Amino acid sequence: MAVERTLSIVKPDATRRNLTGKINARFEEAGLRIVAQKRVWLSKQQAEQFYDVHRERPFFGELVSFMISGPVVVQVLEGENAVARNREIMGATNPANAAAGTIRKDFAESIEANSVHGSDSLDNAKIEIAYFFAGTEIVG
Ligand code: PPS
Repeated sequence: MAVERTLSIVKPDATRRNLTGKINARFEEAGLRIVAQKRVWLSKQQAEQFYDVHRERPFFGELVSFMISGPVVVQVLEGENAVARNREIMGATNPANAAAGTIRKDFAESIEANSVHGSDSLDNAKIEIAYFFAGTEIVG
């Protein structure tokens, strides 16, 4: 199996409830390493650019407003099959559909305030990691 890196974001609903440590523990217990991490408050422009692929979707404005409603923690997770593994650990986008034991089942408030983001493919992971981190900030 290939060692991959993926971008994770602890979203504003989770930082507001002081859940970053509990969420990080889920990643570490599953064997993923946090090889870069920083707390940032995204600007509207940064959030719009990050979610540009969803620009035409009806919830785009709400998604951007939510993502700039408080600080987020952006992080790079590293491990075997990290992209797919992280999405398993996160659970389904809508917490109502998320499997037991996943982050979203246990912590998310709604389909919008769903606590975490994770890259959906290895190609997007590379783009999303480069959006937030210089190579020198990632220490494997
Ligand atoms: S996914 O994971 O990309 O397949 O999920 P998708 O359903 O395509 O959703 C993309 C992102 O949009 C968020 N989302 C919403 N935000 C606000 N309101 C509504 N109704 C809504 N539906 C989906 C969802 O949490 C995804 O955010 P990220 O940060 O990519 O996980």
